[in-house]
Amino acid sequence: MSVTAKAPSTFTPVERMEKIVSLCKRRGFIFQSSEIYGGIGGFWDYGPLGAELKRNLRDTWWHAMTRFREDVVGLDATIIMHPAIWKASGHVDTFADLMRECSLTNKRVRADHVEPQSGTVMQYSGAAAPTGWKLDRKIVVLMKKTEHIESFRKRVRSYLASNAGTAAGKPEEIELLDEEKLNTLEGTVDFHPETGAQLGEARPFNLMLKTYVGPTATEDDVAYLRPETAQAIFVQFKNVMDSTRVKVPFGICQIGKAFRNEVTPKNFTFRSREFEQMELEFFIKPDEAVEIICGHVAPWNETADLSQPQPDWGWEMWHRYWVAQRTAYYDSIGLGTDVLDYFWQGTEDLAHYARACVDILFKFPFGTEELEGIAARGDFDLSQHQKHSGKPQEFFDDELKAAATKLTDDQKEAMIQKRLAAEQSKAKGAPMPESDVRAWFDRLFKGSYVPHVIEPSAGLDRLALAILSLAYDEVEKTDAKGNKEIVTIMRLHPRVAPKKVAVFPLLKNKPELVAKARGIYDVLKKHMTTDYDEGGSIGKRYARQDEIGTPFCVTVDFDTIGENGPDLLDTVTLRMRDDGSQERVAIDDLLPRLLAAL
Ligand code: GAP
Repeated sequence: MSVTAKAPSTFTPVERMEKIVSLCKRRGFIFQSSEIYGGIGGFWDYGPLGAELKRNLRDTWWHAMTRFREDVVGLDATIIMHPAIWKASGHVDTFADLMRECSLTNKRVRADHVEPQSGTVMQYSGAAAPTGWKLDRKIVVLMKKTEHIESFRKRVRSYLASNAGTAAGKPEEIELLDEEKLNTLEGTVDFHPETGAQLGEARPFNLMLKTYVGPTATEDDVAYLRPETAQAIFVQFKNVMDSTRVKVPFGICQIGKAFRNEVTPKNFTFRSREFEQMELEFFIKPDEAVEIICGHVAPWNETADLSQPQPDWGWEMWHRYWVAQRTAYYDSIGLGTDVLDYFWQGTEDLAHYARACVDILFKFPFGTEELEGIAARGDFDLSQHQKHSGKPQEFFDDELKAAATKLTDDQKEAMIQKRLAAEQSKAKGAPMPESDVRAWFDRLFKGSYVPHVIEPSAGLDRLALAILSLAYDEVEKTDAKGNKEIVTIMRLHPRVAPKKVAVFPLLKNKPELVAKARGIYDVLKKHMTTDYDEGGSIGKRYARQDEIGTPFCVTVDFDTIGENGPDLLDTVTLRMRDDGSQERVAIDDLLPRLLAAL
Protein backbone atom coordinates (compact mmCIF):
# COMPACT_ATOMS: atom_id res chain seq x y z
CA MET A 1 0.00 0.00 0.00
CA SER A 2 1.51 3.37 -0.98
CA VAL A 3 1.05 6.40 1.22
CA THR A 4 0.85 9.95 -0.16
CA ALA A 5 0.75 12.86 2.27
CA LYS A 6 -1.82 15.56 1.62
CA ALA A 7 -0.59 18.92 2.80
CA PRO A 8 -2.69 19.94 5.82
CA SER A 9 -2.16 23.51 4.61
CA THR A 10 -4.85 22.89 2.00
CA PHE A 11 -7.53 23.08 4.71
CA THR A 12 -9.01 26.46 5.48
CA PRO A 13 -8.81 27.33 9.20
CA VAL A 14 -12.57 26.73 9.57
CA GLU A 15 -12.35 23.35 7.81
CA ARG A 16 -9.43 22.33 9.96
CA MET A 17 -11.29 23.24 13.15
CA GLU A 18 -14.41 21.39 11.96
CA LYS A 19 -12.33 18.28 11.26
CA ILE A 20 -10.69 18.44 14.69
CA VAL A 21 -14.00 18.97 16.51
CA SER A 22 -15.56 16.11 14.54
CA LEU A 23 -12.68 13.72 15.25
CA CYS A 24 -12.77 14.68 18.95
CA LYS A 25 -16.40 13.62 19.16
CA ARG A 26 -16.14 10.59 16.84
CA ARG A 27 -13.22 9.02 18.65
CA GLY A 28 -14.02 10.14 22.20
CA PHE A 29 -11.53 12.92 22.89
CA ILE A 30 -13.96 15.75 23.71
CA PHE A 31 -17.76 15.86 23.98
CA GLN A 32 -20.11 18.76 24.50
CA SER A 33 -21.14 18.86 28.15
CA SER A 34 -24.81 17.92 28.79
CA GLU A 35 -25.23 17.18 25.08
CA ILE A 36 -28.48 15.22 25.38
CA TYR A 37 -30.07 18.34 26.92
CA GLY A 38 -28.81 20.59 24.14
CA GLY A 39 -25.44 21.35 25.70
CA ILE A 40 -24.34 24.22 27.92
CA GLY A 41 -22.15 26.94 26.45
CA GLY A 42 -18.52 27.00 27.51
CA PHE A 43 -18.48 23.55 29.19
CA TRP A 44 -16.79 20.47 27.71
CA ASP A 45 -16.33 16.86 28.78
CA TYR A 46 -13.28 14.77 27.97
CA GLY A 47 -14.10 11.28 26.71
CA PRO A 48 -12.01 8.15 27.26
CA LEU A 49 -9.14 9.27 25.02
CA GLY A 50 -9.34 12.93 26.04
CA ALA A 51 -9.15 11.95 29.70
CA GLU A 52 -5.94 10.00 29.00
CA LEU A 53 -4.49 12.82 26.92
CA LYS A 54 -5.22 15.37 29.65
CA ARG A 55 -3.79 13.11 32.32
CA ASN A 56 -0.59 12.74 30.28
CA LEU A 57 -0.33 16.50 29.86
CA ARG A 58 -0.92 17.05 33.56
CA ASP A 59 1.76 14.48 34.37
CA THR A 60 4.35 15.93 31.99
CA TRP A 61 3.76 19.39 33.47
CA TRP A 62 3.85 18.14 37.08
CA HIS A 63 7.05 16.20 36.45
CA ALA A 64 8.77 19.08 34.69
CA MET A 65 7.66 21.65 37.26
CA THR A 66 8.14 19.85 40.53
CA ARG A 67 9.28 16.21 40.53
CA PHE A 68 12.32 16.94 38.36
CA ARG A 69 13.22 20.01 40.44
CA GLU A 70 14.56 20.53 43.93
CA ASP A 71 13.15 24.02 44.27
CA VAL A 72 9.42 23.53 43.57
CA VAL A 73 6.78 21.78 45.69
CA GLY A 74 3.16 20.99 44.92
CA LEU A 75 -0.22 21.97 46.34
CA ASP A 76 -3.79 20.75 45.89
CA ALA A 77 -6.17 23.36 47.30
CA THR A 78 -9.96 23.74 47.32
CA ILE A 79 -11.93 25.39 44.56
CA ILE A 80 -14.04 27.44 46.96
CA MET A 81 -12.05 29.56 49.37
CA HIS A 82 -12.77 32.36 51.81
CA PRO A 83 -14.39 35.19 49.78
CA ALA A 84 -12.04 37.71 51.43
CA ILE A 85 -9.26 36.23 49.28
CA TRP A 86 -10.91 37.56 46.13
CA LYS A 87 -11.35 40.99 47.68
CA ALA A 88 -7.65 41.10 48.61
CA SER A 89 -6.52 39.83 45.21
CA GLY A 90 -8.55 42.51 43.42
CA HIS A 91 -10.83 40.02 41.64
CA VAL A 92 -14.04 41.27 43.30
CA ASP A 93 -13.41 44.83 42.17
CA THR A 94 -11.52 44.50 38.92
CA PHE A 95 -11.84 41.02 37.38
CA ALA A 96 -14.30 42.18 34.79
CA ASP A 97 -14.79 42.47 31.05
CA LEU A 98 -16.36 45.56 29.55
CA MET A 99 -19.73 44.50 28.19
CA ARG A 100 -22.40 46.14 26.05
CA GLU A 101 -26.04 45.10 26.13
CA CYS A 102 -28.29 44.66 23.08
CA SER A 103 -31.21 47.12 23.36
CA LEU A 104 -33.55 44.62 21.68
CA THR A 105 -32.77 41.31 23.41
CA ASN A 106 -30.59 42.27 26.41
CA LYS A 107 -27.93 39.86 25.14
CA ARG A 108 -24.48 40.97 26.23
CA VAL A 109 -21.40 41.13 24.07
CA ARG A 110 -17.81 41.94 25.02
CA ALA A 111 -17.12 45.54 24.02
CA ASP A 112 -13.85 44.54 22.34
CA HIS A 113 -15.47 41.67 20.40
CA VAL A 114 -17.81 43.76 18.21
CA GLU A 115 -16.75 43.64 14.57
CA PRO A 116 -17.35 46.81 12.51
CA GLN A 117 -20.59 46.75 10.46
CA SER A 118 -22.07 48.96 7.78
CA GLY A 119 -25.70 49.77 6.93
CA THR A 120 -28.69 52.06 7.47
CA VAL A 121 -29.89 52.93 10.96
CA MET A 122 -33.65 52.34 11.24
CA GLN A 123 -35.75 53.63 14.09
CA TYR A 124 -39.26 52.76 15.38
CA SER A 125 -41.11 54.55 18.14
CA GLY A 126 -42.27 51.20 19.55
CA ALA A 127 -44.18 48.04 18.64
CA ALA A 128 -47.61 46.56 19.31
CA ALA A 129 -49.37 43.22 18.77
CA PRO A 130 -53.04 42.16 18.43
CA THR A 131 -52.59 40.23 21.74
CA GLY A 132 -52.46 43.61 23.51
CA TRP A 133 -48.69 43.44 24.01
CA LYS A 134 -46.92 46.79 23.57
CA LEU A 135 -43.37 48.09 23.60
CA ASP A 136 -43.29 51.77 24.51
CA ARG A 137 -39.70 52.66 23.72
CA LYS A 138 -37.53 53.48 20.75
CA ILE A 139 -36.12 50.58 18.78
CA VAL A 140 -32.94 51.36 16.85
CA VAL A 141 -31.57 48.64 14.57
CA LEU A 142 -28.94 48.58 11.81
CA MET A 143 -30.24 47.30 8.48
CA LYS A 144 -27.31 45.65 6.73
CA LYS A 145 -26.18 47.02 3.37
CA THR A 146 -27.34 43.98 1.45
CA GLU A 147 -30.50 43.34 3.45
CA HIS A 148 -33.96 43.78 1.90
CA ILE A 149 -36.30 45.99 3.93
CA GLU A 150 -38.92 43.22 4.25
CA SER A 151 -36.50 40.62 5.57
CA PHE A 152 -35.09 43.29 7.89
CA ARG A 153 -38.54 44.00 9.36
CA LYS A 154 -39.18 40.28 9.67
CA ARG A 155 -35.92 39.93 11.60
CA VAL A 156 -36.81 42.75 14.00
CA ARG A 157 -40.31 41.28 14.58
CA SER A 158 -38.91 37.83 15.28
CA TYR A 159 -36.42 39.18 17.88
CA LEU A 160 -39.24 41.19 19.51
CA ALA A 161 -41.49 38.11 19.60
CA SER A 162 -38.89 35.76 21.06
CA ASN A 163 -37.92 38.37 23.67
CA ALA A 164 -41.55 38.89 24.72
CA GLY A 165 -42.16 35.14 25.22
CA THR A 166 -45.80 34.23 24.43
CA ALA A 167 -47.12 37.75 25.19
CA ALA A 168 -46.54 39.16 21.70
CA GLY A 169 -48.09 36.23 19.83
CA LYS A 170 -47.08 35.52 16.21
CA PRO A 171 -44.06 37.55 14.99
CA GLU A 172 -45.72 38.39 11.66
CA GLU A 173 -48.61 40.10 13.48
CA ILE A 174 -46.37 42.52 15.39
CA GLU A 175 -46.69 46.08 14.12
CA LEU A 176 -43.51 48.17 14.02
CA LEU A 177 -44.51 51.79 14.75
CA ASP A 178 -43.39 54.99 12.96
CA GLU A 179 -40.53 53.64 10.88
CA GLU A 180 -37.77 56.20 10.18
CA LYS A 181 -34.50 55.97 8.27
CA LEU A 182 -31.96 57.83 10.43
CA ASN A 183 -28.58 57.67 8.69
CA THR A 184 -26.10 55.40 6.94
CA LEU A 185 -22.99 54.22 8.80
CA GLU A 186 -19.74 52.58 7.69
CA GLY A 187 -17.66 50.43 10.09
CA THR A 188 -19.75 51.13 13.17
CA VAL A 189 -19.22 49.06 16.34
CA ASP A 190 -22.37 50.33 18.08
CA PHE A 191 -24.75 47.57 16.99
CA HIS A 192 -25.08 44.00 18.22
CA PRO A 193 -23.25 41.65 15.81
CA GLU A 194 -26.14 39.15 15.74
CA THR A 195 -29.36 41.15 16.25
CA GLY A 196 -28.18 44.41 14.70
CA ALA A 197 -29.84 46.40 17.51
CA GLN A 198 -28.15 49.39 19.12
CA LEU A 199 -25.77 48.55 21.96
CA GLY A 200 -25.83 50.25 25.35
CA GLU A 201 -22.85 51.86 27.10
CA ALA A 202 -19.89 49.60 27.96
CA ARG A 203 -20.16 48.41 31.57
CA PRO A 204 -17.89 46.14 33.63
CA PHE A 205 -19.21 42.59 34.11
CA ASN A 206 -17.49 40.51 36.78
CA LEU A 207 -16.33 37.13 35.48
CA MET A 208 -16.36 35.26 38.78
CA LEU A 209 -19.00 32.56 39.21
CA LYS A 210 -20.88 32.99 42.47
CA THR A 211 -22.28 30.38 44.76
CA TYR A 212 -23.55 30.22 48.34
CA VAL A 213 -21.90 28.41 51.19
CA GLY A 214 -24.22 27.70 54.12
CA PRO A 215 -27.92 27.05 54.50
CA THR A 216 -29.33 30.57 54.24
CA ALA A 217 -28.14 31.43 50.72
CA THR A 218 -28.13 35.14 51.47
CA GLU A 219 -25.58 37.73 50.31
CA ASP A 220 -23.63 36.99 53.53
CA ASP A 221 -23.05 33.45 52.27
CA VAL A 222 -21.72 34.41 48.84
CA ALA A 223 -18.58 32.57 47.82
CA TYR A 224 -16.85 32.26 44.47
CA LEU A 225 -15.64 29.39 42.34
CA ARG A 226 -11.97 30.28 41.97
CA PRO A 227 -11.20 32.16 38.75
CA GLU A 228 -7.53 31.10 39.00
CA THR A 229 -5.58 28.56 41.03
CA ALA A 230 -2.85 31.06 41.88
CA GLN A 231 -4.49 32.68 44.91
CA ALA A 232 -4.63 29.36 46.80
CA ILE A 233 -0.86 29.18 46.44
CA PHE A 234 -0.41 32.68 47.84
CA VAL A 235 -2.65 32.09 50.84
CA GLN A 236 -0.88 28.80 51.66
CA PHE A 237 2.59 30.29 51.15
CA LYS A 238 3.27 30.50 54.92
CA ASN A 239 2.03 26.99 55.67
CA VAL A 240 4.16 25.51 52.89
CA MET A 241 7.20 27.44 54.08
CA ASP A 242 6.67 26.41 57.70
CA SER A 243 6.00 22.75 56.93
CA THR A 244 8.85 22.11 54.48
CA ARG A 245 12.52 23.05 54.29
CA VAL A 246 12.11 25.35 51.27
CA LYS A 247 14.04 28.60 51.13
CA VAL A 248 13.60 31.54 48.77
CA PRO A 249 14.06 31.15 45.81
CA PHE A 250 11.51 28.34 45.60
CA GLY A 251 8.17 27.69 43.98
CA ILE A 252 4.76 26.20 44.72
CA CYS A 253 2.79 24.75 41.85
CA GLN A 254 -0.75 23.56 41.44
CA ILE A 255 -2.99 22.04 38.79
CA GLY A 256 -6.72 22.46 39.16
CA LYS A 257 -10.06 23.70 37.98
CA ALA A 258 -10.79 27.38 37.48
CA PHE A 259 -14.09 29.00 36.52
CA ARG A 260 -14.87 32.18 34.65
CA ASN A 261 -18.26 33.34 33.48
CA GLU A 262 -16.84 34.13 30.04
CA VAL A 263 -19.35 36.18 28.10
CA THR A 264 -18.45 34.73 24.76
CA PRO A 265 -16.99 31.24 25.20
CA LYS A 266 -15.61 30.33 21.79
CA ASN A 267 -13.28 28.37 19.57
CA PHE A 268 -14.19 24.95 20.96
CA THR A 269 -12.46 24.56 24.35
CA PHE A 270 -10.20 27.58 23.88
CA ARG A 271 -12.33 29.96 25.94
CA SER A 272 -14.38 27.85 28.34
CA ARG A 273 -16.28 28.68 31.50
CA GLU A 274 -14.82 25.74 33.39
CA PHE A 275 -11.22 24.89 32.64
CA GLU A 276 -8.03 23.69 34.24
CA GLN A 277 -4.96 25.75 34.99
CA MET A 278 -1.40 24.66 35.70
CA GLU A 279 0.25 27.43 37.66
CA LEU A 280 3.57 28.00 39.37
CA GLU A 281 4.27 30.81 41.79
CA PHE A 282 8.03 31.03 41.99
CA PHE A 283 9.12 33.16 44.95
CA ILE A 284 12.34 35.12 44.61
CA LYS A 285 14.34 37.63 46.65
CA PRO A 286 13.72 41.29 45.89
CA ASP A 287 16.57 42.69 43.76
CA GLU A 288 17.76 44.80 46.70
CA ALA A 289 18.28 41.63 48.77
CA VAL A 290 20.29 40.06 45.91
CA GLU A 291 22.39 43.22 45.70
CA ILE A 292 23.13 43.16 49.44
CA ILE A 293 24.06 39.45 49.38
CA CYS A 294 26.02 39.36 46.08
CA GLY A 295 27.13 42.98 45.72
CA HIS A 296 25.37 43.24 42.37
CA VAL A 297 22.37 41.95 40.39
CA ALA A 298 23.21 40.03 37.21
CA PRO A 299 22.07 42.12 34.23
CA TRP A 300 20.06 40.33 31.56
CA ASN A 301 21.20 40.39 27.94
CA GLU A 302 20.47 38.28 24.87
CA THR A 303 23.51 36.06 25.44
CA ALA A 304 22.87 35.46 29.17
CA ASP A 305 23.30 31.83 30.26
CA LEU A 306 19.90 30.76 31.56
CA SER A 307 20.67 27.06 31.95
CA GLN A 308 21.26 27.05 35.73
CA PRO A 309 19.84 29.52 38.27
CA GLN A 310 22.49 31.67 39.93
CA PRO A 311 22.53 33.43 43.34
CA ASP A 312 22.99 36.86 41.71
CA TRP A 313 19.83 36.63 39.58
CA GLY A 314 17.26 39.38 40.03
CA TRP A 315 13.66 39.27 38.80
CA GLU A 316 14.58 39.84 35.17
CA MET A 317 16.90 36.85 34.89
CA TRP A 318 14.37 34.67 36.73
CA HIS A 319 11.62 35.83 34.40
CA ARG A 320 13.70 35.06 31.30
CA TYR A 321 14.74 31.74 32.86
CA TRP A 322 11.12 30.67 33.26
CA VAL A 323 10.27 31.69 29.69
CA ALA A 324 13.16 29.44 28.55
CA GLN A 325 12.09 26.60 30.86
CA ARG A 326 8.51 26.72 29.66
CA THR A 327 9.62 26.83 26.03
CA ALA A 328 11.76 23.73 26.63
CA TYR A 329 8.76 22.01 28.24
CA TYR A 330 6.57 22.67 25.20
CA ASP A 331 9.32 21.37 22.95
CA SER A 332 9.49 18.15 25.02
CA ILE A 333 5.87 17.35 24.13
CA GLY A 334 6.09 18.25 20.47
CA LEU A 335 5.29 21.99 20.42
CA GLY A 336 8.50 23.41 18.96
CA THR A 337 9.31 27.07 18.46
CA ASP A 338 7.96 26.85 14.90
CA VAL A 339 4.41 26.68 16.29
CA LEU A 340 4.92 29.04 19.24
CA ASP A 341 5.22 32.79 19.39
CA TYR A 342 5.80 35.33 22.15
CA PHE A 343 3.99 38.52 22.98
CA TRP A 344 5.81 40.83 25.36
CA GLN A 345 3.31 43.19 26.92
CA GLY A 346 4.27 46.86 26.66
CA THR A 347 4.62 48.91 29.88
CA GLU A 348 1.32 50.63 29.10
CA ASP A 349 -0.54 47.25 29.11
CA LEU A 350 0.97 45.98 32.36
CA ALA A 351 -0.84 46.12 35.69
CA HIS A 352 0.75 48.78 37.92
CA TYR A 353 2.37 46.12 40.16
CA ALA A 354 3.70 43.96 37.28
CA ARG A 355 7.19 44.39 35.92
CA ALA A 356 6.90 42.25 32.82
CA CYS A 357 4.55 39.78 31.24
CA VAL A 358 5.06 37.59 28.23
CA ASP A 359 2.37 35.47 26.63
CA ILE A 360 3.47 32.24 25.00
CA LEU A 361 1.22 31.96 21.96
CA PHE A 362 0.33 28.95 19.86
CA LYS A 363 -0.66 29.01 16.21
CA PHE A 364 -4.20 27.60 16.57
CA PRO A 365 -6.21 27.05 13.35
CA PHE A 366 -8.35 30.08 14.31
CA GLY A 367 -5.34 32.35 14.94
CA THR A 368 -2.25 32.80 17.07
CA GLU A 369 -3.54 32.92 20.64
CA GLU A 370 -2.36 32.71 24.24
CA LEU A 371 -1.37 29.35 25.67
CA GLU A 372 0.38 30.59 28.78
CA GLY A 373 1.23 33.86 30.48
CA ILE A 374 4.48 34.36 32.40
CA ALA A 375 4.33 37.41 34.64
CA ALA A 376 6.77 39.06 37.00
CA ARG A 377 4.30 40.24 39.64
CA GLY A 378 6.59 41.84 42.26
CA ASP A 379 5.36 41.30 45.82
CA PHE A 380 1.79 42.42 45.03
CA ASP A 381 -0.14 39.24 45.88
CA LEU A 382 1.57 38.28 49.13
CA SER A 383 1.55 41.92 50.29
CA GLN A 384 -2.17 42.19 49.60
CA HIS A 385 -2.86 39.05 51.64
CA GLN A 386 -0.57 40.31 54.41
CA LYS A 387 -2.55 43.57 54.49
CA HIS A 388 -6.02 42.05 54.30
CA SER A 389 -5.47 39.06 56.62
CA GLY A 390 -3.22 40.86 59.08
CA LYS A 391 -0.88 37.81 58.98
CA PRO A 392 2.77 38.40 58.08
CA GLN A 393 3.80 36.84 54.77
CA GLU A 394 7.51 37.54 55.12
CA PHE A 395 10.46 35.27 54.66
CA PHE A 396 13.37 35.58 57.05
CA ASP A 397 16.60 35.31 55.08
CA ASP A 398 19.56 34.68 57.39
CA GLU A 399 22.03 35.05 54.52
CA LEU A 400 20.59 38.50 53.85
CA LYS A 401 20.74 39.47 57.52
CA ALA A 402 24.40 38.46 57.74
CA ALA A 403 25.26 40.40 54.56
CA ALA A 404 23.29 43.49 55.64
CA THR A 405 25.21 43.78 58.94
CA LYS A 406 28.34 44.42 56.84
CA LEU A 407 26.80 47.46 55.09
CA THR A 408 27.80 50.94 56.26
CA ASP A 409 25.08 53.52 57.01
CA ASP A 410 26.12 55.40 53.86
CA GLN A 411 25.72 52.30 51.73
CA LYS A 412 22.29 51.67 53.23
CA GLU A 413 21.23 55.27 52.63
CA ALA A 414 22.47 55.07 49.04
CA MET A 415 20.21 52.06 48.45
CA ILE A 416 17.25 53.89 49.96
CA GLN A 417 17.88 56.95 47.79
CA LYS A 418 18.14 54.80 44.66
CA ARG A 419 14.77 53.24 45.44
CA LEU A 420 13.16 56.60 46.22
CA ALA A 421 14.33 57.91 42.84
CA ALA A 422 12.93 54.80 41.13
CA GLU A 423 9.59 55.30 42.88
CA GLN A 424 9.43 58.89 41.60
CA SER A 425 10.09 57.86 38.01
CA LYS A 426 7.59 54.96 38.04
CA ALA A 427 5.53 54.84 34.84
CA LYS A 428 2.35 53.61 36.56
CA GLY A 429 0.79 53.75 40.02
CA ALA A 430 1.51 56.18 42.84
CA PRO A 431 5.09 56.26 44.18
CA MET A 432 5.53 54.58 47.55
CA PRO A 433 5.73 57.24 50.29
CA GLU A 434 9.24 57.80 51.70
CA SER A 435 8.21 56.59 55.16
CA ASP A 436 7.03 53.26 53.67
CA VAL A 437 10.22 52.92 51.63
CA ARG A 438 12.32 53.48 54.77
CA ALA A 439 10.20 51.00 56.79
CA TRP A 440 10.60 48.42 54.00
CA PHE A 441 14.42 48.83 53.98
CA ASP A 442 14.45 48.66 57.77
CA ARG A 443 12.86 45.16 57.57
CA LEU A 444 15.14 44.21 54.67
CA PHE A 445 18.34 45.15 56.54
CA LYS A 446 17.11 42.88 59.37
CA GLY A 447 16.74 40.00 56.88
CA SER A 448 12.94 40.06 56.28
CA TYR A 449 10.99 40.66 53.10
CA VAL A 450 7.83 39.66 51.32
CA PRO A 451 9.14 37.57 48.40
CA HIS A 452 8.59 38.67 44.83
CA VAL A 453 7.04 36.26 42.38
CA ILE A 454 7.40 34.99 38.83
CA GLU A 455 4.21 33.29 37.68
CA PRO A 456 4.12 30.90 34.70
CA SER A 457 0.40 30.23 34.28
CA ALA A 458 -0.76 27.75 31.64
CA GLY A 459 -4.16 26.41 30.61
CA LEU A 460 -4.45 22.62 30.43
CA ASP A 461 -7.45 22.66 28.09
CA ARG A 462 -5.76 25.13 25.76
CA LEU A 463 -2.69 22.93 25.75
CA ALA A 464 -4.80 19.86 24.91
CA LEU A 465 -6.42 21.80 22.07
CA ALA A 466 -3.03 22.97 20.79
CA ILE A 467 -1.70 19.41 20.89
CA LEU A 468 -4.77 18.04 19.07
CA SER A 469 -4.80 20.73 16.42
CA LEU A 470 -1.11 20.34 15.68
CA ALA A 471 -1.39 16.54 15.53
CA TYR A 472 -4.30 16.43 13.08
CA ASP A 473 -3.24 15.21 9.66
CA GLU A 474 -4.82 13.44 6.71
CA VAL A 475 -3.16 11.22 4.15
CA GLU A 476 -4.40 9.62 0.98
CA LYS A 477 -3.85 5.89 0.89
CA THR A 478 -4.05 3.60 -2.11
CA ASP A 479 -4.61 -0.08 -1.41
CA ALA A 480 -3.40 -3.05 -3.44
CA LYS A 481 -6.57 -2.87 -5.59
CA GLY A 482 -5.88 0.76 -6.42
CA ASN A 483 -8.69 2.14 -4.23
CA LYS A 484 -7.90 5.52 -2.73
CA GLU A 485 -9.16 6.80 0.60
CA ILE A 486 -8.34 9.69 2.89
CA VAL A 487 -7.42 8.59 6.39
CA THR A 488 -6.69 10.61 9.49
CA ILE A 489 -3.46 10.37 11.43
CA MET A 490 -3.09 12.07 14.77
CA ARG A 491 0.63 12.77 14.97
CA LEU A 492 0.72 13.04 18.76
CA HIS A 493 4.04 13.01 20.57
CA PRO A 494 4.41 9.53 22.19
CA ARG A 495 4.71 11.19 25.61
CA VAL A 496 1.18 12.63 25.39
CA ALA A 497 -0.58 10.08 23.15
CA PRO A 498 -3.55 8.51 25.01
CA LYS A 499 -2.54 5.01 23.90
CA LYS A 500 1.15 4.28 23.55
CA VAL A 501 0.92 0.93 21.82
CA ALA A 502 -1.62 -1.51 20.39
CA VAL A 503 -1.07 -5.26 20.21
CA PHE A 504 -2.69 -7.42 17.52
CA PRO A 505 -2.71 -11.14 16.79
CA LEU A 506 -2.60 -11.53 13.01
CA LEU A 507 -5.68 -13.80 13.16
CA LYS A 508 -8.21 -14.01 15.96
CA ASN A 509 -9.13 -17.61 15.29
CA LYS A 510 -5.61 -18.95 15.80
CA PRO A 511 -5.29 -19.66 19.56
CA GLU A 512 -1.45 -19.65 19.57
CA LEU A 513 -1.36 -16.16 18.03
CA VAL A 514 -4.02 -14.87 20.40
CA ALA A 515 -2.27 -16.33 23.47
CA LYS A 516 1.05 -14.81 22.48
CA ALA A 517 -0.48 -11.39 21.74
CA ARG A 518 -2.43 -11.47 25.02
CA GLY A 519 0.78 -12.29 26.87
CA ILE A 520 2.56 -9.29 25.33
CA TYR A 521 -0.44 -7.07 26.08
CA ASP A 522 -0.45 -8.18 29.73
CA VAL A 523 3.21 -7.23 30.12
CA LEU A 524 3.02 -3.87 28.31
CA LYS A 525 -0.18 -2.64 29.99
CA LYS A 526 1.60 -2.58 33.36
CA HIS A 527 3.96 0.06 32.00
CA MET A 528 1.92 2.11 29.53
CA THR A 529 -1.57 2.54 28.11
CA THR A 530 -1.92 -0.42 25.76
CA ASP A 531 -4.74 -1.45 23.43
CA TYR A 532 -5.53 -5.00 22.36
CA ASP A 533 -7.40 -5.40 19.08
CA GLU A 534 -8.21 -8.51 17.10
CA GLY A 535 -11.10 -7.20 14.96
CA GLY A 536 -10.83 -6.65 11.20
CA SER A 537 -7.89 -6.67 8.82
CA ILE A 538 -4.47 -5.55 10.06
CA GLY A 539 -4.77 -2.50 7.76
CA LYS A 540 -8.07 -1.50 9.40
CA ARG A 541 -6.56 -2.01 12.84
CA TYR A 542 -3.57 0.20 11.97
CA ALA A 543 -5.95 2.86 10.63
CA ARG A 544 -8.01 2.82 13.85
CA GLN A 545 -4.87 3.39 15.91
CA ASP A 546 -3.52 6.08 13.54
CA GLU A 547 -6.74 8.00 13.98
CA ILE A 548 -6.30 8.18 17.75
CA GLY A 549 -2.56 8.86 17.58
CA THR A 550 -1.16 5.55 18.90
CA PRO A 551 2.53 5.80 17.98
CA PHE A 552 3.30 2.05 17.89
CA CYS A 553 1.53 -1.15 16.87
CA VAL A 554 2.79 -4.66 17.55
CA THR A 555 1.65 -7.60 15.42
CA VAL A 556 2.05 -11.23 16.44
CA ASP A 557 2.21 -13.41 13.33
CA PHE A 558 3.18 -16.91 12.27
CA ASP A 559 6.90 -16.08 12.45
CA THR A 560 6.40 -15.15 16.13
CA ILE A 561 5.19 -18.63 16.97
CA GLY A 562 7.89 -20.32 14.85
CA GLU A 563 5.60 -21.66 12.15
CA ASN A 564 8.00 -20.47 9.43
CA GLY A 565 11.12 -21.76 11.13
CA PRO A 566 13.10 -20.90 14.25
CA ASP A 567 14.84 -17.72 12.96
CA LEU A 568 12.09 -15.28 13.83
CA LEU A 569 10.66 -17.19 16.78
CA ASP A 570 9.54 -14.82 19.56
CA THR A 571 9.90 -11.73 17.42
CA VAL A 572 7.07 -9.38 16.45
CA THR A 573 6.43 -6.65 13.89
CA LEU A 574 6.74 -3.18 15.41
CA ARG A 575 4.99 -0.64 13.20
CA MET A 576 5.61 3.12 13.48
CA ARG A 577 2.56 5.38 13.06
CA ASP A 578 4.19 8.38 11.40
CA ASP A 579 5.80 6.76 8.38
CA GLY A 580 4.20 3.32 8.45
CA SER A 581 7.64 1.70 8.64
CA GLN A 582 8.00 -1.71 10.26
CA GLU A 583 10.75 -3.54 12.10
CA ARG A 584 11.19 -7.03 13.41
CA VAL A 585 11.83 -6.83 17.16
CA ALA A 586 12.47 -9.54 19.74
CA ILE A 587 9.63 -9.71 22.30
CA ASP A 588 12.20 -9.31 25.07
CA ASP A 589 13.41 -6.02 23.53
CA LEU A 590 9.94 -4.59 23.08
CA LEU A 591 9.37 -3.04 26.49
CA PRO A 592 12.75 -1.25 26.78
CA ARG A 593 12.38 -0.10 23.18
CA LEU A 594 8.94 1.45 23.81
CA LEU A 595 9.87 2.95 27.17
CA ALA A 596 12.82 4.72 25.55
CA ALA A 597 10.43 6.47 23.15
CA LEU A 598 8.16 7.85 25.89
N1 GAP B 1 -3.00 33.57 37.55
C1 GAP B 1 -2.85 34.21 36.31
C2 GAP B 1 -3.93 33.90 35.36
O1 GAP B 1 -4.92 33.27 35.70
P1 GAP B 1 -4.67 34.23 32.87
O2 GAP B 1 -3.88 34.76 31.70
O3 GAP B 1 -5.97 34.84 33.15
O4 GAP B 1 -3.68 34.38 34.12
C3 GAP B 1 -3.74 31.83 32.57
O5 GAP B 1 -4.85 32.67 32.71
C4 GAP B 1 -4.00 30.77 31.53
O6 GAP B 1 -5.22 30.09 31.82
C5 GAP B 1 -4.18 31.31 30.12
O7 GAP B 1 -2.94 31.51 29.47
C6 GAP B 1 -5.00 30.21 29.47
O8 GAP B 1 -4.15 29.16 29.02
C7 GAP B 1 -5.85 29.69 30.61
N2 GAP B 1 -7.20 30.28 30.53
C8 GAP B 1 -7.60 31.48 30.97
N3 GAP B 1 -8.91 31.68 30.72
C9 GAP B 1 -9.34 30.56 30.10
C10 GAP B 1 -10.61 30.13 29.57
N4 GAP B 1 -11.69 30.89 29.68
N5 GAP B 1 -10.69 28.92 28.98
C11 GAP B 1 -9.61 28.12 28.89
N6 GAP B 1 -8.40 28.47 29.37
C12 GAP B 1 -8.25 29.67 29.97
